[in-house]
Amino acid sequence: MKITINQVKDYVGQEVTIGVWLANKRSSGKIAFLQMRDGTAFMQGVVVKAEVSEEIFTLAKGMTQETSFYVTGVIQEDSRSAFGYEMTVRNIEVISEAHDYPITPKEHGTEFLMDHRHLWLRSNKQHAIMKIRNEIIRASYEFFNQEGFIKVDPPILTGSAPEGTTELFHTKYFDEDAYLSQSGQLYMEAAAMALGKVFSFGPTFRAEKSKTRRHLIEFWMIEPEMAFYTLKDSLEVQEKYVAFLVKSVLDNCAIELDRLGRDTAVLEKMTAPFPRITYTDAITLLKEKGFDDIEWGEDFGAPHETAIADSFEKPVFITHYPKGIKPFYMPEDPENSEVVLCADLIAPEGYGEIIGGSERIHDLDLLLSRVKEFGLDEEAYSWYIDLARYGSVPHSGFGLGLERTVAWISGTEHVRETIPFPRLLNRLYP
Ligand code: 4AD
Ligand code: MG
Repeated sequence: MKITINQVKDYVGQEVTIGVWLANKRSSGKIAFLQMRDGTAFMQGVVVKAEVSEEIFTLAKGMTQETSFYVTGVIQEDSRSAFGYEMTVRNIEVISEAHDYPITPKEHGTEFLMDHRHLWLRSNKQHAIMKIRNEIIRASYEFFNQEGFIKVDPPILTGSAPEGTTELFHTKYFDEDAYLSQSGQLYMEAAAMALGKVFSFGPTFRAEKSKTRRHLIEFWMIEPEMAFYTLKDSLEVQEKYVAFLVKSVLDNCAIELDRLGRDTAVLEKMTAPFPRITYTDAITLLKEKGFDDIEWGEDFGAPHETAIADSFEKPVFITHYPKGIKPFYMPEDPENSEVVLCADLIAPEGYGEIIGGSERIHDLDLLLSRVKEFGLDEEAYSWYIDLARYGSVPHSGFGLGLERTVAWISGTEHVRETIPFPRLLNRLYP
């Protein structure tokens, strides 16, 4: 019977065959312990000299890291391992021998590992992070489907720049100029006017010269957009969504969280609602904490965000930022024209901003004046302006950065380990 490691619980006491790679190995004169992986999970195989042929025992003892093989044996319960099962090996059939695998169980430097990302993905820590990333994607679809959202796919090649013109990847589109999408938002607004509640999930690109633990050049974003929703309505969706993601990972990735050493007691507290603080109150809070360098009107840096987040146990919404540091599409607060109706969600423990969102301007004259004020090409945006021209309604939306969310929930220090093949400043390989 050919099965995978994640199915072994149904085969206790039975003989099965599994296609695996050798992750690691320990052996003595009488016994060999093979750490085997097959992509679905990791499991130990025990080869006892007295129970197998001389040839199989010699093969097991001499097997090199990342050699692929079919292993046949009997599944046993094993209360000493986190996985809970192991195999008593009876036969080994080598498929392909690996020699001098570059990533050994010893410590390696980050640059070395990044150069070998195509192989590094096989390690048990990277495996756990990728499983958690997958769970967050899966749970996102489940959440938005269950809340009645329609998935809409905005284009990647675009002629407009929702988040400002300085961080765009430029390319030729035959005879025209085009840019890689930095956000699908404007298209999602059009979709919300057609379908009500929509969400997208796709890659976005920022030609930012940032080299921090939170910045990727190419990252994946989930962007919901909702017709007839105010900022307050949107924040309620956001906290429910993020709490759902955390719970899904707790429920479905216990082994992975354990392997990463993530403190799950901290995650258990991430239930809705989340606290809210205005930008202006956040400035006061920072001054109280001794940050004399920041003035009202300036954007927060990572240390500021971390200091604000440290005042709360859960993610915190910072709302009503100054108009001058936010994009053209955000409307002023009717009660204070200096600030706009927006919110960023800041994750705990220094992981920074995981969501940016706002209400969107739906008044035609206001939108036209903003497009001018920001120096945007009215012709390139004329389709977007049409939305305000033909039966516009109040609407809100947000973008959740997948990699920062994975980093936070999995407890991974740097976003470069939360995406299979990170695109970073000065790194396009592998
Ligand atoms: O705050 P941002 O720039 O917002 C937008 O793009 C809006 N148009 C979204 C919307 O309202 N539909 O980006 C949203 C999120 C950030 O909060 C962050 O999590 C992530 O995207 N993000 C990045 N993640 C990794 N590397 C980068 N360079 C990122 N820039 C933004
Ligand atoms: Mg932002």
